[in-house]
Amino acid sequence: MNKNFLNDFPILRTQMNGQPLAYLDNGATTQKPENVVRSICGYYGGCNANPHRGVYELSQKSTKVYEDARRKVTKFINAKSAREIIFTKNATESLNLVAFSYGLTNLQAGDEILITIAEHHSNLVPWQIVARAKGAKLNYIYLTADGNLSEADISAKLTRRTKILAVTQISNVLGLINDVKTLAAKAHEIGAVVIVDGSQSVPHIPVDVQNLDADFLAFSGHKMLSPMGIGVLYGKQKILDAMPPFLTGGDMIEYVTEQETTFAELPQKFEAGTQNVGGAAGLTAAIDYLQGVGFDEIARVENDLTTFAISELKKLPYVELYGCDAPNKVGIVTFNIRDVHPHDVATILDAQGVAIRAGHHCAQPLMKFLGVNSTCRASFYFYNTRRDVERLIDAVKTVRGVMKLN
Ligand SMILES: Cc1ncc(COP(=O)(O)O)c(C=O)c1O
Repeated sequence: MNKNFLNDFPILRTQMNGQPLAYLDNGATTQKPENVVRSICGYYGGCNANPHRGVYELSQKSTKVYEDARRKVTKFINAKSAREIIFTKNATESLNLVAFSYGLTNLQAGDEILITIAEHHSNLVPWQIVARAKGAKLNYIYLTADGNLSEADISAKLTRRTKILAVTQISNVLGLINDVKTLAAKAHEIGAVVIVDGSQSVPHIPVDVQNLDADFLAFSGHKMLSPMGIGVLYGKQKILDAMPPFLTGGDMIEYVTEQETTFAELPQKFEAGTQNVGGAAGLTAAIDYLQGVGFDEIARVENDLTTFAISELKKLPYVELYGCDAPNKVGIVTFNIRDVHPHDVATILDAQGVAIRAGHHCAQPLMKFLGVNSTCRASFYFYNTRRDVERLIDAVKTVRGVMKLN
């Protein structure tokens, strides 16, 4: 491992079940470097006060920390204006905001919402609920055998009835990168609004909302080195301006009378109640850290580890891999071991210090489409090493023996 990463992420030097930790569950959440931990402590130790509300210096300092984070995110994803950046608690809340504010207001009976079968439940369940409420139809783009989005489905289902296209940029199960730029252009031709779930892309590849021409982009800080509890919704200003608030109460108002309320301008209109300023401080530090590493280096490491893991797993005849032959893929390897439940696999790996995910990965329709109930998933980040992958493979090789299947 790069020495600096070991120094910066002390948790990676800890043990799990008496073994050195090989943390391979980065798709669920990433570890946090020291500068992020320090920034949170620094905020609570030196700047803590309710932002936006106080006229005193400490409150203004807190407001500055919060608004600096917004400016940092604006540049990071190349939004046009900081007004287009709404802080939420996570990608799930961001996607719910769009569904319940934009979707409920703009959809009509007979309209269609188009998503992919590879969506995380966070970009699926809100659309089911909104579709039902409005009498709209929820359509799916399915996958080809190699795991890519079916072009035939895109052509057939992206029609003038489609008012919303909501699509993940990278699948959290298969790691496949969808060409959302091309999809967005096609959707805009027929007047649909494009929502991109960037939960698995923003931490791993450069994302430029103007280049993609996304109308909305949702992501979570905790999957990109930040603390849990801070997320982002980007939206084009014109669209956000026309949307009603999602949550209401303190901070998001302009004026309240006994019966009426007028709402604050963007972005406050969508940020009701006391916000997570410590989380925003952590997000700023996380972006600084990521930019220090650089997306080229992140891609280099993740590609190396993914290719290595896939080639080693392919040597094991009892391992089935999912979506591993597509070239447009980032650091996620999803597999099953014949005759062994993924929870048993993960438990056996855990005893050897290897942390992976097992289950349906909040993507049950995709599991059904793949013909499985659940899978194992190893997901990498730039601080992982070939040694971590070797430990994964060595542990996988023990599973069938432990289960007395050999
Ligand atoms: C593709 C994708 N979308 C949405 C989410 C939801 O993220 P969060 O739980 O941080 O809201 C996840 C989390 O795993 C994800 O991988």
